[in-house]
Order: sequence, then C-alpha cells, then structure tokens
Amino acid sequence: MEPPALGGGLPLLGHTLAFARDPVALLVDGHQKLGEVFTIRITGRKFTVLSGPAATDSVFRASDETVGRRRAYESMTPVFGEGMLFDATPAEFDEQIALILPALRGRAVEEYAPVMRREVEDYLAGWGDQGRIDLVGSMSELSVNIAVECLIGAEFRRRVGPDLVRLFTDLKSAGRASWLIHPHLPLPAFRRRDRARRRLIELILDAARSIKRDDPESGRFVSTLMTSRFSDGSPVPEEVVASLLLAIIVAGEHNTAALASWTGALLLRHPEWLSRVLREQEELASAGDAATACQNVRGMEVLRRCMVEAERLHPPTTVLLRDAEQEFSYGGYRIARGSRVMVSPTASHRLPGVFQDPERYDPDRFSPERAEHRGVPQPMLAFGGGRHRCTGMAFAYQEIMIIWSCLLRTYELELEGHAPRPDYSAVTAVPRTPCWVRYRRRGRQGEKPSSGR
Ligand code: HEM
Repeated sequence: MEPPALGGGLPLLGHTLAFARDPVALLVDGHQKLGEVFTIRITGRKFTVLSGPAATDSVFRASDETVGRRRAYESMTPVFGEGMLFDATPAEFDEQIALILPALRGRAVEEYAPVMRREVEDYLAGWGDQGRIDLVGSMSELSVNIAVECLIGAEFRRRVGPDLVRLFTDLKSAGRASWLIHPHLPLPAFRRRDRARRRLIELILDAARSIKRDDPESGRFVSTLMTSRFSDGSPVPEEVVASLLLAIIVAGEHNTAALASWTGALLLRHPEWLSRVLREQEELASAGDAATACQNVRGMEVLRRCMVEAERLHPPTTVLLRDAEQEFSYGGYRIARGSRVMVSPTASHRLPGVFQDPERYDPDRFSPERAEHRGVPQPMLAFGGGRHRCTGMAFAYQEIMIIWSCLLRTYELELEGHAPRPDYSAVTAVPRTPCWVRYRRRGRQGEKPSSGR
C-alpha cells in the first residue's frame, strides 16, 4: 500500500504554510488522523512522515544503504564543507566520525568540565551585579565560546578575537532558507555564510599548524588530529582536519544553546522545580569545594531531570530527514526508492502513549521510580537514534548543567513576560526572542548593585 496523504493542503502550496507556522501541530494532527505513516507536501515536494516510537525506530535501525542522509542534508554542505560528514559516502563518514569520537567520549568530556566552568565564570564576570539579558543570545555566545575553547583551544580564540560569535552567526545565516531553496543561490545571507566559512577555516588552519609546531600539549585533540591517518594509512589532510573541527563545533553549539535556553526558561517558569534545583546546588556546595561545585555534574540529579524534560518538550531539532536509497516497507506501507523521509523528535515526544500527559512539564517522569519511557524503543529522539545517535550528547549535557549550576548559584533570575513559545523558523527551535531574563547577584543585599547590561 502507498502511505495515505494528509488532507488540508492548499493548491500548489500543499502543507508549506501549516508546516512553517507550526510543524509539530501539523505532524501530531497527521499521526492522529492517519497513524504512523503518511505523506505531506512542502514547497512542492512530498515527504513521507514516520511517527511514533516503533516507526521511528525502523528508520534509525535501517542501514545507510537503505536510508541515507547525503541528499536530505545537502543544505548543510556549504557549512560543513564538500565531502565532509553528510556529503561523504557512508564509509568516509564513519572514518571522519572515528577521528572525532575520542574528543567526545568518557574521560575526555570529563576533562572539559573545569574549562567549561571557567568559561561560564569569565562570561558572567561581564554581567555586573544586576541587569537583563536575552536568554537565547547569551546561551548562543556561551556555547560558541565553550565549544571553541574545549575543542580547538585558546590559540584559535586569540587569533579570531572579538569576531568569534559574529563569524559563527554569519555561518548559520542561511538558516532554514537553505533547507527550502537551493543552498548556492546568490543571496546575501548565503554569501555571508560562505565568507564566514572561508575565514573560520583559514583561522583554524593557522591555529592548528601553530599548535602542532609550537605547543602540542596546549591543544591535544587538535595536534592528534593533525598527525592522524585514515584506516588505509594515508594522512588526514590539514583542510579535512579544519573542516572537521568547524563541523563539530557548528553541529553542537546551536543545538546546545537551544537546549540550554529551554532548560533555563522552563525552570524559571516552575518555582517548585527551581527551589528543588537550588536546594540540590546548596547541598553540593556544602558537601565539597564550593568554588568548583558547579562542575560536579554527577551530583545534579534534579537539574539533570529538568534538562531532560526540557529536551522532551523542546528538542532543538524539530525534524530529521532521510532519503530512501532503496524501497522499504513499514506497517504494510511501501516507501518507494527516492522518497524523502521525515521523523520528528518534537511530535513523537508529544504523542500520548509513551509519556503520560505529554504537554505537562513534569521532570519526575524521568525519576528511576517512574521512568515512563522504560521499555519503549526510541522514546527520546532529540539526539537522534540508532547508529547515528549524536556523538556530542555527553558534552552537551555536561555543558548545560555547568552553565545552569554557575548561573543559579551566582544570580537570582526571573523570566519576563509570558511562557516562551518555540520559534520554528529558526535553525533550531529556540524560545522566541527576545526572551528577557532579569538577574541580580545573590547574597549582597546590603550593597549597592552595579549595573550590568
Ligand atoms: C543539545 C545538544 C545537541 C543536540 C540536541 C544534538 C542533536 C543531534 C541529532 C538529532 C543528531 C542526529 C542527526 C540525524 O541523524 O539526522 C546529531 C548528530 C551529531 N551530533 Fe549532535 N546534538 C547536540 C550536541 C552536539 C555536540 C555538543 C556535538 C559535538 C561537540 C555534536 C556532534 C554531533 C555529530 C558529530 C553528529 C553526527 C553523528 C552521526 O551521524 O553519526 N552534537 N546531533
């Protein structure tokens, strides 16, 4: 059987407008009306949506030869580089990932904890005693700073200077547009993206050469990459090293900024959870070295649950795409070769059946006693699944907990305005901006606060 088409599309436009307005509402509606497999039309193209845990599991379990990502993510090629990651063959992709894995696993990630803490403290040093910040903007700056400092090092930071955040913003300036239109059209945003990439690659190469030559210990990951070889023994070209470093930073920083923003926004909206998190932070500080307590993420079980609940409600990536390289079937439906396949973490997390009362903020659903998702295949999809599950998950979790631990221990925070809603037009589904947060330094009531931003 062919998958059924979701009704309600407009002539020519199909579901384009409904998807642009609220993709999650559209996809949940499709699931409720038609079940786990259906099609929608966006900008003249048919997408086969697989939704719900079992259907999604079948996509993530499929081999790269059955469902590939090369064409589906071709809009990322100008950012990641020709022949890099999704633009590589599956075998080349595996080789490239194998090169970066050592920097994103186990002990390597734990060793970044003091670096992450120092980065947050340095950043907060510019805030003064009180003021107001746009949460999303601040989380974006912080996550670029942290990723760069951990994965490339101070040498690159020194070379790039104050342009760092602007260059990364320009690199992403094509945003969702390149998803819908040809990524090489001569548009100003695409030109900005290409200029930023050229400059960043040049600066990373300079820094990497200098680290390798003068001080390999100052950037161990970079110097290891610069002398590494592919499995056939050939040396990894320097340009590939620079592209890989840039790619993992970009792949991670905007997703991390989005989840960090939601973790904080939801926490500040739920005073009962904020009090529990603060109590946990106080206990941690009194149990050990208070100055470094905010890097001890293992003890932050309550904060972890709040972060994972934010991840469930607002996964940074609203949809993941694949192309059917071969025909396959699911639930009696034929997904023809060449079909573009879509799965949505956000819509899946909100389907009734896996999580009780899925629209409700309820971090305790992840407590060991309740663990509502236990036994469900692929219940949480924000980091993808199967063999291509995100390699940066541990890095991102640690970073987000350190950010919020430092922030909450330093300032009293208050979210202004109504409950934030997701901006689905952004590259990642961040809270709509500006998302103002007021801050006031803790424990200095008697003093006259200095002004921040
Ligand atoms: C909250 C933060 C993050 C989220 C939500 C996230 C999400 C994802 C998702 C959904 C995928 C799979 C894409 C797909 O299959 O279509 C993925 C893959 C990947 N992510 Fe992340 N990511 C995050 C942070 C990071 C960080 C910090 C890094 C690196 C420093 C990173 C590096 C990667 C890489 C290299 C892949 C490709 C893995 C593969 O396909 O085998 N991510 N990420």
